[in-house]
Amino acid sequence: MSIILLKTLHFLSLLFAGGVTVGSVVVQRAYVAADEIPPPHVRKAFVLLSYMGLGAIVTLWVTGIGLAHLIYGGLAINGAFHVKLLGAAVVLGISLWGNLHAYSAAKAGIPPNAILMKRLVSAARGGLLIAIVGAAVAFA
Ligand code: HEM
Repeated sequence: MSIILLKTLHFLSLLFAGGVTVGSVVVQRAYVAADEIPPPHVRKAFVLLSYMGLGAIVTLWVTGIGLAHLIYGGLAINGAFHVKLLGAAVVLGISLWGNLHAYSAAKAGIPPNAILMKRLVSAARGGLLIAIVGAAVAFA
């Protein structure tokens, strides 16, 4: 029962992490293409998306650690699983960095650095891809 619950939460978090990343990129690109700075209410929505992304990746870690212990008795599953963890660690680090940056920019009343945010989102996407391919190989 708890495996089913943890797996459902793991997959839901995956959906959120991916959705938030892709959604932010599409909207941010639209602003960059129009050469416009997002107005304050849209900036607030970006900050919210960023918090949701961090919440999703933290939930991925919590549920993932629980699943690994319940199903495999620990994290020493196989090499591909460690690659998946590396990807997940990249996503967590990037998400923390992006949130801290967005938070301090919002506090200072300025828009976040668009170039830095774009790079962070690209890196997070790369980490997600590594984690998904790692999961596909590890649990094939
Ligand atoms: C960006 C982060 C992550 C992504 C994209 C991700 C993706 C996935 C996917 C797609 C599956 C389904 C695999 C399958 O059933 O064939 C899965 C299952 C699983 N994940 Fe994650 N995961 C992430 C983070 C983590 C973390 C941090 C851990 C552990 C510390 C973890 C542990 C597990 C375990 C144990 C399973 C279940 C395997 C099974 O059913 O036998 N995941 N994950």
